[in-house]
Amino acid sequence: MSVGGAAVRLLGATALLTTLGLLRAAPVAAADAPALQFPDGAASFQANCAVCHGPAGAGLPSLAPPLLSYPAHYATSAAGRRQLAITVLYGMFGEITVEDKRYDFKMPDFARLDDATLAATLNFVVFDLDHAPASVKALSAADVAAERAQALDGAAVREHRKSVVPAGS
Ligand code: HEC
Repeated sequence: MSVGGAAVRLLGATALLTTLGLLRAAPVAAADAPALQFPDGAASFQANCAVCHGPAGAGLPSLAPPLLSYPAHYATSAAGRRQLAITVLYGMFGEITVEDKRYDFKMPDFARLDDATLAATLNFVVFDLDHAPASVKALSAADVAAERAQALDGAAVREHRKSVVPAGS
């Protein structure tokens, strides 16, 4: 038996083991990936929000704020839940500070999307992106419906935000 032949067999065995390892590793990796709690909201977020806030909600420096912590905070109070609904229904305009960084741009309104879609989109942000605990109540289509058809604009939404921003921000 030549040394070369043994080396080829060794390489072949290594390749086989690697392949088996990969085959075994793949399902484990898939099982480890956390399942989305709001897949419909995820689809809407990618279609409507990701262009500005990024596919994972990290935001765009000085253009659109990250959505990775404040929305979960808002979801814990009645005023904050209202803030989430009116932000998507009427947009937001004017300077705000998020995690010590300033943003001063305009978010468009998404009133054209139905109540259930907007609720799911916000729930995706609050629970799948921000990992709000299960003790936080998900937003419902009725929560969004209750905030429709008011005389609000993006500047008013930004004014209301002052009452719900996290302490110390
Ligand atoms: C055209 C870009 C753009 C799109 C698209 C967009 N946003 Fe925004 N969003 C912004 C900007 C800019 C702000 C901050 C506005 C300001 O400076 O007053 C903001 C603010 C927010 C806030 C408030 C954050 C806070 O701390 O109060 C939330 C929540 C939010 N967006 C969620 C969404 C969701 C959900 C969608 C999709 C339905 C979306 N945004 C789509 C640009 C965008």
